[in-house]
Amino acid sequence: MNKESGAGNHPYGGINDMKQKRITDLRREKGLDAVLVTNPLNVRYISGCTADTGCLYLSDTSCVFLTDSRYTTQAQEECGGRFTVCEIKGRNGYTDALELYMKQDAVCNIGFEDEVMTWAEARRYQQKLPVKEWIPLQDALDQLRVIKSEEELERIARAESIGDAAFSHILEVLRPGMTELQVAAELEYFMKNAGATKLSFDTIAASGLHSAMPHAVPQDKELADGDFLTMDFGCVYQGYCSDMTRTVVIGKASAKQKEIYQVVLTAQQAALESIRAGRTGSEIDRIARNIIKDAGYGDYFGHGLGHSLGLFIHEEPRLSALDDTVLCENMVETVEPGIYLPGFGGVRIEDVVVVTKSGCRNLTRSPKELIEIG
Ligand code: GLY
Ligand code: MN
Ligand code: MN
Repeated sequence: MNKESGAGNHPYGGINDMKQKRITDLRREKGLDAVLVTNPLNVRYISGCTADTGCLYLSDTSCVFLTDSRYTTQAQEECGGRFTVCEIKGRNGYTDALELYMKQDAVCNIGFEDEVMTWAEARRYQQKLPVKEWIPLQDALDQLRVIKSEEELERIARAESIGDAAFSHILEVLRPGMTELQVAAELEYFMKNAGATKLSFDTIAASGLHSAMPHAVPQDKELADGDFLTMDFGCVYQGYCSDMTRTVVIGKASAKQKEIYQVVLTAQQAALESIRAGRTGSEIDRIARNIIKDAGYGDYFGHGLGHSLGLFIHEEPRLSALDDTVLCENMVETVEPGIYLPGFGGVRIEDVVVVTKSGCRNLTRSPKELIEIG
């Protein structure tokens, strides 16, 4: 039998009246009897529960968090005040429990997160559940997360400040002969020791020719005099991600290194000065890209200018030629132009900003003048 409980509190800022209303509006707008939430990030956002396994079933009469026995106590404590916590049992635990709720609610159609469901999961749900129509929601639930609350912004700012402190630390310990793997390990240990629960993505520490690869994987390769060293790193603090990149030179920078660095920095500054609510991500991308193009390096900046972040490291909307979303107050964006010259090396500089009515608030405080190590 499934064990249920409705007791508890929700210290992690889970569902509140505003979120509840937005989900109800979405159901009404799409004519849905119920919604099944399976993306762990949306489960967490809506419920406030930090358990990493479970799903939500939401209808006019049901607000249920389904999970297994490893997480029921945690779920009761974190979201039991607003959710019925249903402990699933057995091989078909989720579908058995969902079937009961769906029958009770006489559900004919249900919205589901098609973009995060495997083919096998979708087939299993379709075969076992008494639903006539499965309605793909695409990214409709992710869209709920696009504008951040003050509490979310505080957590992102705190995560970013841990990144800033890690950068100050690494400047103290960097020296020729250290390997890229050791650089990454130093950054990671520092961030965890400073309160991060995990990394927001695999740390990049790319030196010399490796720095020409935007997402190089750190190697057992020693830093050498004259190398660019690009460090792109981030952590998760109370569920929320940080992201920053700084490029330094080991020893003295050459004229060409200084030139490339200055172009990237100028492009980033222009983008930072242009961001404000009402503009689109594609406009901001174009402003930075044109500076890099005009300097003759347009072919060497292949990725978009930035992305949003929050519970996940890469969220919408993007600062990209492909994204015409109008930026709104309290959206968060990275601004990360780069130039990557195969056979020479590369530079990327990345900050995280909060969009405001008249501009943006930069959460990344680390210095950006070209730093020469040693
Ligand atoms: N390396 C992840 C990012 O900056 O987007
Ligand atoms: Mn990054
Ligand atoms: Mn980024």
